[in-house]
Formats: sequence, structure tokens, C-alpha cells
Amino acid sequence: MLGDDLKSLLETARREIDAADAPALEALRVALLGKSGSVTMLLKSLGGMAPEERKQAGALINEAKAKLSDALAARRAVLDAAALAARLDAERIDVTQPPRPEPLGAIHPLSRTMEEIAAIFGAMGFALKDGPDIESDWNNFSALNIPAHHPARAMMDTFYLTAAENERPAVLRTHTSPVQIRTMLDWARQRAEQPGAAPVRIIVPGRTFRADHDATHSPMFHQSEGLVIGPDITLAHLKGCLIDFLRAFFGVPNLPVRFRASYFPFTEPSMEVDIGWSRKTGEIGAGTDWLEILGAGMVHPNVLANCGIDPRENQGFAFGVGLERITMLKHGINDLRLFYESDVRWLRHYGSSPLAPATLHEGI
Ligand code: PHE
Repeated sequence: MLGDDLKSLLETARREIDAADAPALEALRVALLGKSGSVTMLLKSLGGMAPEERKQAGALINEAKAKLSDALAARRAVLDAAALAARLDAERIDVTQPPRPEPLGAIHPLSRTMEEIAAIFGAMGFALKDGPDIESDWNNFSALNIPAHHPARAMMDTFYLTAAENERPAVLRTHTSPVQIRTMLDWARQRAEQPGAAPVRIIVPGRTFRADHDATHSPMFHQSEGLVIGPDITLAHLKGCLIDFLRAFFGVPNLPVRFRASYFPFTEPSMEVDIGWSRKTGEIGAGTDWLEILGAGMVHPNVLANCGIDPRENQGFAFGVGLERITMLKHGINDLRLFYESDVRWLRHYGSSPLAPATLHEGI
């Protein structure tokens, strides 16, 4: 009797389960096996049966319950697989579609020049260093052998910050040379603790400021300093490094380079470095004219001493190069102000690809 009832219950339930969608399946589970589901109620009725009858009925009901659980699980698996397949189908990506064109940015030509300088000097073992835009008077002038009333200060139209009375005002650095001072002071301190500290070999690209504004001067411009200090550094190293740099940067293997005596308070001897070009065609490395490119020299003994370095033990060379100037020459840009106008058409034309970083492998 119970056996027949269970059999028909199972048959009906199976049919309903096989036809159910996900919500109907859950409703069926509750109606059959839930707290007051039909099978649960049958199990509860066992309590009122005689022991012998209970044993038989219990076995039958539990068997039916197990079959129903299996049927529910099997249907759920089918529905889950179908749902996943439908989702995968709906969310399919067509990898053969051409990409939506993204606006491609460009590296600003001045940034590119800094990257190229880093690549060229990096290959020669120079480290990249930077310093603050706002400098003390001492770092920018005095330590560089430009004392308080030295006429050389007038060479640089300095922006002074307001200062407390009796204090020398801080300045917007007029050149990257104060980073020489910072570096040498650090080095002297380091060597006091660790006498074998590696020699200094740095380049310092960065912003510089002078109160000057026309087609060839901007109140904010860029320089890169270079500094090498060690026990055996000579003028020959200066010449070799700068000749290699200029030839790599301008991409002219036999570029003529001329070292012309000059004056800077912080170097002795001092020199200006010229490259060969044709004034008529503007071509670098051609013609018979000379173009001034950068200032350089052997670090003045006073400067070394100001930084706690004994000039009899260590010496070195320094140079400073104007980045706008060499970038204009390299790319044929004739007005400095264009660098700062943020004209997207100009940037697209003179900028370089962010996906092709500066390396020496194929020439800068
Ligand atoms: N600081 C100098 C300038 O701005 C350039 C320079 C740097 C010259 C280092 C010699 C050595 O003009």
C-alpha cells in the first residue's frame, strides 16, 4: 500500500523535476523534501507506527527520498550547465574585431631629450640624480665659488624668494649646478664612514629658472648637469665623455667637437664646447661653422674644498647643457616658446612614441 503510493509519488515527481526550470525545481524541492514537504511528512508519520511496520516503511521512504534527492541534483546540474552555456554564448568576444582607436599620447621632445641623455650617459655608468627647484643661496652660488658680491651673480637674472630679515633669500635655482654641491657633500659624508665609497658619476636633468623671456629664453627652462669625481679623473675624461655624448645625441658619428677656453667661477680650467654645423643649411656636422652647445670644466679646487673634498686627493669634471637648445637643434624647432604652449598638434608632430623608449641599440 505505502509502496504503491511512494511509487506513484516518485513517478509524478520525476516527471515534474525533468520539466522544471530553476525556480520550479526549487519549489519542487521544498514541496517534497522541505520542512513540511510530502516526503518529510511521511518520515514524521513513522513515529506512530508499530515497530515492525516502521522498519519496513522507513526503508521504503528513505529509499524514495534518496532517489528524489538524486533526481533534483541531476536536474540542477543540467540547468546550471545550460545557464553557463547561454552566458558564454552571450558574452562571447570577437577577437577578430579591429581595436577601437585610442588617442595615442606622445613623449614631449624635452622629456625625450632627458631620456636620451639618461640612456647615453647610463651606458657610460652615470647615475641619474635630481634636486629641488628652490635652493639655498649657498648651494646655488656661494659653494660654487660665486661669493656674495661677485659680478658672476649678475650673469644670471635670479628669482629670489622673500626671506626673513638678516637671512639670505632662497632662490629658484638658476642652473642645475647646485646638485653638484649636494652630491659632493653627500659623497664626502659617505666617505667619512666608508672610505672605499664608489666615485661620483651623475647626470642631473631638471628645471632651472632665470628672469628672462624672449624667443630664445624662457623664465623656466631645462638643463642637465654632469659631474664626475674620483682620484684619477682628468680633462681627457671630460673630452672623451662629451665627444661621445654629442656624437650619440646628434647621431653624427664624426661630429666635429671643439673645446674653447672660457670662464665659470666653479671650474678651472673652464671651457665652452662647440659642434660643427652649417649656418646656411642648419645641418649638424656639416659645413665649417661652429655652434656653442655647453659649458664644462674641471671642478674648481675651492668648490671641492667647500664640499669637504681634498682637491689633492680627488678631482673631477662638470658640465652643464641647456636642454631646450640641443632639442631645438636636433629637431629643427625655431621658437623656444612652442615647448610650453601645450599645442596638441605640435606635440603630435614633434613628440615621440611612448612605445619606443630611448636606447642606444639602434642609435638615439
Ligand atoms: N652652470 C653653468 C651654466 O648654467 C654651466 C656649467 C656647468 C659650466 C658645469 C661648467 C660646469 O651656465
